[in-house]
Amino acid sequence: EQAGKGEFDHFMLKEIHEQPTALTQALEGRIDPEHGRIALADFEPGTFTDIESVQLIACGTSYHAALYGSLVLNQAGVHATALLANEYSVSSPPIDDDTLVIAVTQSGETADTLNALRQANAEGATTVTVTNVVGSTAAREADEALFIRAGPEIGVAATKTFSSQAVMLTLLGQRIAADLRGEPPADLETLLAELAAMPDAIAGLLEDSDADAIADRYANSQSYFFIGRGLGFSVALEGALKFKEITYEHAEGFASGELKHGPLALVTPETPVFAVFTGEEDEKTLKNAEEAQTRGAPVIAVCPAGHRAVDVADDHLEIPEMEADLAGLLANVQLQLVSYYAAELLGRPIDKPRNLAKSVTVE
Ligand code: AGP
Repeated sequence: EQAGKGEFDHFMLKEIHEQPTALTQALEGRIDPEHGRIALADFEPGTFTDIESVQLIACGTSYHAALYGSLVLNQAGVHATALLANEYSVSSPPIDDDTLVIAVTQSGETADTLNALRQANAEGATTVTVTNVVGSTAAREADEALFIRAGPEIGVAATKTFSSQAVMLTLLGQRIAADLRGEPPADLETLLAELAAMPDAIAGLLEDSDADAIADRYANSQSYFFIGRGLGFSVALEGALKFKEITYEHAEGFASGELKHGPLALVTPETPVFAVFTGEEDEKTLKNAEEAQTRGAPVIAVCPAGHRAVDVADDHLEIPEMEADLAGLLANVQLQLVSYYAAELLGRPIDKPRNLAKSVTVE
């Protein structure tokens, strides 16, 4: 097992560091920045021309990627909703043959997601799975499969697969929007250039990250809160899930604006707040973070250098400048590292947290 970890102490840390390679593999042949187009040959031209609404179904970290994808679709003008697969049988919106259902699942074997996929198939939706595993049940049962090509992920905590799922959903979302409109998205060139720059941006971030020092500073707190807005909200949820999963400490993610609607009552000097800034109404998120800070909570801003939040926050974790569509993924890598180093300080069995399985094949 140690051989498989290479120079790293845990698979999780290795897989965090594999993200530049995973994204390069995911994007290989699928973007064409030189000619300014998405070359997603996984689907026939016009596959999505008749789609009227999109439902993304998933669990856990894959649900956070689905939430991310649903926002990318909404921002591109497509009706899309992310739904928890385990709630789907009791709360799915209406399905007809103009509905596209996207099952997002790293393993392709999660029972809750497969059940929801089967329901969507039975009700006549067009189905696609975004998965890491060729030959998985989801890949066999969905009408189409889009493989994220992240390589094997051994750590129970999903890391590289989240980034790859979110990037593939961004591409797929733009492709769906283009099929519906009959023309490419307006700001496609910027997106393609930034997608192509993502592997290097993550590699640079991994080299310079201060996440270990931040983990050290706050590892003995009572609870950990994560806030963000828009795409940053899905990252806040993912940051909190990762943190609780491997540190066994209490962590919650909130939409920044929700803090004042209840969670603020929990805020004390013992509850650090990680605030994710993705360029989506950052001023509002900063105000929400300051409300927590006024009640004594240390605020750790995850944002680019020179951002106004750096002066206001108690600490910060730096991310390279990127458009809102991708900035959240960079912030997420910093939060993965914070969780990892906090769990290491606390002596947790990082790759195999108690009570959890890599793939949950029961309902
Ligand atoms: C994330 O760190 C967890 N291991 C878990 O939430 C996981 O994402 C979820 O069980 C879904 O798994 P899947 O992507 O294989 O469907």
